Amino acid sequence: MTASPMPELTQRPEWQALRAHAEARGQRHLRELFAADPSRGERLTAEAVGLYMDFSKQRVDDETLHLLRALAEACDLAGRTRAMFEGEKINATEGRAVLHTALRAPAHAKVEVDGENVIPEVHAVLDRMGAFADKLRGSSWLGHTGKPIRNVVNIGIGGSDLGPVMAYEALRHFSRRDMTFRFVSNVDGIDFVEATHDLDPAETLFIVCSKTFTTLETLANAQAARRWCLAALKDETAIARHFVAVSTNAEEVTKFGIDTANMFGFWDWVGGRYSMDSAIGLSTMLAIGPDGFRQLLAGFHAMDEHFRSAPLERNLPVLMGLIGIWNTDFLGAETVAVLPYEQYLKRFPAYLQQLTMESNGKGVTLDGRPVDYATGAIYWGEPGTNGQHSFYQLIHQGTRLIPCDFIGFGQPLSPLPLPDGSDQHDLLMANLIAQGEALAFGKTADEVRAEGVAEALVPHKTFPGNRPSTTILAERLTPHVLGALVALYEHATFVQGVVWGIDSFDQWGVELGKVLAKRTAAELTGRGEPELTHDSSTNALIRRYRALRDA
Ligand code: F6P
Repeated sequence: MTASPMPELTQRPEWQALRAHAEARGQRHLRELFAADPSRGERLTAEAVGLYMDFSKQRVDDETLHLLRALAEACDLAGRTRAMFEGEKINATEGRAVLHTALRAPAHAKVEVDGENVIPEVHAVLDRMGAFADKLRGSSWLGHTGKPIRNVVNIGIGGSDLGPVMAYEALRHFSRRDMTFRFVSNVDGIDFVEATHDLDPAETLFIVCSKTFTTLETLANAQAARRWCLAALKDETAIARHFVAVSTNAEEVTKFGIDTANMFGFWDWVGGRYSMDSAIGLSTMLAIGPDGFRQLLAGFHAMDEHFRSAPLERNLPVLMGLIGIWNTDFLGAETVAVLPYEQYLKRFPAYLQQLTMESNGKGVTLDGRPVDYATGAIYWGEPGTNGQHSFYQLIHQGTRLIPCDFIGFGQPLSPLPLPDGSDQHDLLMANLIAQGEALAFGKTADEVRAEGVAEALVPHKTFPGNRPSTTILAERLTPHVLGALVALYEHATFVQGVVWGIDSFDQWGVELGKVLAKRTAAELTGRGEPELTHDSSTNALIRRYRALRDA
């Protein structure tokens, strides 16, 4: 741990200026802000890498943005960004560099870790993945019995699952429709059973994805897959044709029985939740092909370049990250709702939950002091119109402030024309645009009365408004755009971690649960009455579970 002590964030003059600004002007209504500046809706926007971001419906003005940028500068955002891109060990608690940006850098780039340029290795793995994908997609990689592989099952959890499944769902339109892709993550056996029940083992490839190759859930599911495969193919040598591994741990992969010739590596400087563009994305590449995967990487890279070079006032990740800090620390918001108006992005909120919450769900600073301000917000969400008929009521009229990110596209990937010549997509986007407007401006009691509503109902039909949102629009959901969108959130998460002074790249918080689960597993599966030394609730639950199971 080499991090030097930092000044307390809340003691910084820039923080205190924001606090004073929030007290004086934080409650101004968006109606007022828009009325005062007729060009606000065009001015408070930024555009890069095919993404148009409208943050005019956030509760900020020029002064807020100026103060937020000053805070970022005081926290040395520029220096920390350079340190990340240049491979410094900014993941202080694990002593690791943080170089997901190197995974999408072009072949001629140079990024050193411990004096060694990592880019040639990155491209060597990408080339091996590409060669494998071409063989499998071209039916020259065959299963043990000589049948082509038609089914791909990705086994992994957390970053070894959420990125692959999100990307597959997002890019389904570009995927091989004659192949089946499934994703198994949960240690609940149902996940594996349902994912494989209709598949022919002779036509199925398992990708076992695990950075550490020690994760309980993944190893249990990989063993289940092995048994499932051998029960049908009845020959140990079949494993080599039906299993590949993606990991940083060649030793454990070998122990599991997968030949390292069938292993695609990555490196300890790639965090699990930042790994979808490493070999962890092999299933994505098998689905959309090596060219599509390279377009995805190019989208990530273009956003990386934008982030590291654009001025703060036009920098999308910086704006998104800083506005998030404003909402969280100065307006008291606790969550961010991510609302894609695009069915293909249905797993995007789940993906962002790990990215943002595992990264910024921290309560101590880099130098180990407890924070006295709120850090990572709770991310959640659902595809747009489904959410409208479910939880939007609370966003519109509940007592909590819930900033929203609306995401939409100009063109549908699968048009569905309406009889009048328009497309169903127009209805979808009309909803997106209307929601942002309704949340911002609401409906006053006088407006409700003017509609002739009975006085008793006026309070119920009044919408307070002033509920902040950002709208992100792009032309079409292509691999390139998806890469840019994910990198936008990655870097916004980083910006927030820098200001909060926390380590956004470790995840010690998930360790305790893992350790206790191992101990409890032994108590559940052992013979006879185990000697239980937990608290009275945990002891009783273990006894009750055993009794229910054995009834
Ligand atoms: O949940 C903790 C975690 O370590 C994540 O950060 C990671 O993405 C996941 O477990 C899976 O880990 P692995 O890829 O090593 O199996």
